[in-house]
Order: sequence, then C-alpha cells, then structure tokens
Amino acid sequence: MIAAKPTDFIQTEIEIAKYAKALAHPARIAILNLLKARNTCICGDIVDELPLAQSTVSQHLKELKSVGLIKGDIEGTKVCYCIDDQKWEQVQVLWNDFFKHFNLGKMKTDVQLKEIVKQKYSEIALQEKEVNQSSCCGAGGCSTEVYNIMTDDYTDLLGYNPDADLGLGCGLPTQYAKIQKGNTVIDLGSGAGNDCFIAREEVGETGNVIGIDFTTAMIEKARINAKKLGFTNVHFLQGDIEEMPVESNVADVVVSNCVLNLVPNKEGVIKEIYRVLKPGGHFSISDVVLIGELPENLQKDAEMYAGCVAGAIQKEDYLALISTNGFLNISVQKEKPIIIPDDILSKYLDNAALEDFKNGNTGIFSVTVYAEKPVIL
Ligand SMILES: C[S@@+](CC[C@H](N)C(=O)[O-])C[C@H]1O[C@@H](n2cnc3c(N)ncnc32)[C@H](O)[C@@H]1O
Repeated sequence: MIAAKPTDFIQTEIEIAKYAKALAHPARIAILNLLKARNTCICGDIVDELPLAQSTVSQHLKELKSVGLIKGDIEGTKVCYCIDDQKWEQVQVLWNDFFKHFNLGKMKTDVQLKEIVKQKYSEIALQEKEVNQSSCCGAGGCSTEVYNIMTDDYTDLLGYNPDADLGLGCGLPTQYAKIQKGNTVIDLGSGAGNDCFIAREEVGETGNVIGIDFTTAMIEKARINAKKLGFTNVHFLQGDIEEMPVESNVADVVVSNCVLNLVPNKEGVIKEIYRVLKPGGHFSISDVVLIGELPENLQKDAEMYAGCVAGAIQKEDYLALISTNGFLNISVQKEKPIIIPDDILSKYLDNAALEDFKNGNTGIFSVTVYAEKPVIL
C-alpha cells in the first residue's frame, strides 16, 4: 500500500528551516557573536564593529529580530539590541535534536581516527622492527626504555616468520584457535602476516588463509612475505574489517591480534565476524581491554589511540558485545595486565594524576577471547 502524500512539512522542519534562513549571512553570525562576546545589550554602535554600511546592518538586525533571535528596544534616541536567551534555548534544543539524529560528530571522528591509525601503521610497516619493539603497540618512540609492553613471544611457534613479526601483537590468538588441517582462516588486521603464517602451518596445503588489513604498506609487506615463502594459499586483501571484502559463511576460524581496540565501531566488526563465519565456526581474538575508566587525557590522545590503549573499551562491554550479537560458548582463554611505563604516562598526566592512576582501580589488560557461531541459526 502506498502511504498518503503529506500535505505539509512537520512543525520542527519548518522551525529549523526558519532559523537557518535567518542565520544565512555572515553579517548575522557576526552580530550574534558580538552580542554574545559583550554579554550585554549593544546600543547604537553595532555598525562600528562590522564591515558594512548602516542601512545593510539595519536590514540584518531586522531579519534576526523578525524570528526572535535578538530583541531590539528603543532606549532614548538609540535602539538597543540583545540576545534573547529564552529563544536561543529553544533553538538549541531543536538543532541539537536535528544534529544528534544525523550523528555527524561521531561519523567525522570515526573517519579521522581511522586515518590516524592507517598513517601510524603505514609508518610502522616502513620502519625497522627494532623501533616498533621499543614502543607501545608499535606506535613508535614513546618510551625511552626498551619495553615490549604487549607482545608475546612468537619465536617458538611453528610457521613463525621473523619478517612478518613487527612486534605489534598483544597475545597469541592462534594458540587457542583450534585450527584444523584444511580450514579456511581469516585474520583481521593482519599486518605483515604474522598470525597468517602461523595459521598456514596449521591449515596445511589444503586449507586457506586470508589476511585483511586496510593499510596499503602492511598489505604490500605481507604479500612480499607470502611470495618469499612460496605460499599460494595465503592471500592478503586490502579492506576495512568493518566491511570485510569476503562472502558470508566462508570461514571456519577467525583470528585477530590487537586490532579491534583500534576500530571505532567494534560492534560492526563483531557483526561482520558473525557474517563471515560458517555456522558452527569460531573465533579466537587477542585484544586490549580496560577495567575501570582511563584518565581523560589518555583516552583522548591520538597517539595513545593508535598505540592500542585509548580505543580500548571495558572488558565487560567487550564480552557483552560478543554475546548480544549471537555468539555462544564465550570464554576468556588468557588475560594478562599491561603495565604502561611511567615515562609514557607522564606525557599525558601530571604527577598527581599519574599517582592517582597508578593507585586507582583502572587496569589495562591483554585478553584472548574465544567464541562460537551457533550451528543452527
Ligand atoms: C596493532 S597492529 C597488529 C597487526 C598484526 N595483527 C600483528 O599482530 O602483527 C593493527 C593492524 O590492524 C590494522 N587495522 C586497524 N584498523 C583496521 C580496520 N578497521 N580494518 C582493517 N585493518 C585495520 C592496521 O593497519 C594494523 O596493521
């Protein structure tokens, strides 16, 4: 059935458009800024503050007054103009609702954060491994001491390839991934291919390994590594793991190492994992999570974001995202605290805040989480 054609716009649409029209000239914005900055009514001399003639200013004042954004009263020989606070509160509510609906602020931030992450991991792909290892999550040069604050030792694992190990992981997801010969394994945020080559050892000649990463330099490095090893069943696809460039129900196992914490829309990735796994398939993911709230400075900093810390969410929220999106038999296979050295923390916190942080209940942890997609959907 076709809905009846509306006969008019709804009241809020008319109102929003009315105020937008009244503001549609830089002179009117300048007048409002001026009134706001003075924080009092302006009598007579507004024209001296603007690059316009008296008659033009009068016209703009009239437009603002006609919709009630300013008040204008005659005092003696002068007209005094003031902001109408009550009206502004109404307008603010209308516009906040309008912008909240579009979620514009968040979209912009997500795109910006992803760009920061891409740039950082591009730099990392092109720099020496030793530089990555002396940093936080490969972010580069944030500690004066040599710390591997997150990385586990891969060197004893079968299939280990030193060229693919950039020291960027925060666990050993393949260890708990129950990979079988002939499986198809997808590695999310595959970097230079470290976990893919371990998985290749486990799937053997008959299986398939697909690494997905959105950083061009990482994909190129991973492909060079696969070529050197002569593998024809390890493929690296460039793409965002929020929209994986693979079909649904193809993977027996999904693994990932220290990547979801970098993704602004973590639920989007969880849903994608569910989509690409075969019914009865499972994942094993190592990641960084928090227990307690991080100090605001740490949370906001872009470097810390790219360094796997500031984008991390609460452990309980992380596990809840997995269960509310349909996964079963969820278990934390391994958990270890990550200690951020003082010389890194002191870049973001003053002495008092640093002490509070260290003595508080906030912890940063590396976890390896396992979960299964149901066999019957
Ligand atoms: C900390 S590194 C880990 C690399 C690899 N898993 C390892 O352990 O060596 C994070 C990787 O995830 C990739 N990445 C981050 N966000 C991504 C996204 N939304 N889509 C695809 N790749 C992403 C980065 O380009 C980077 O290569």
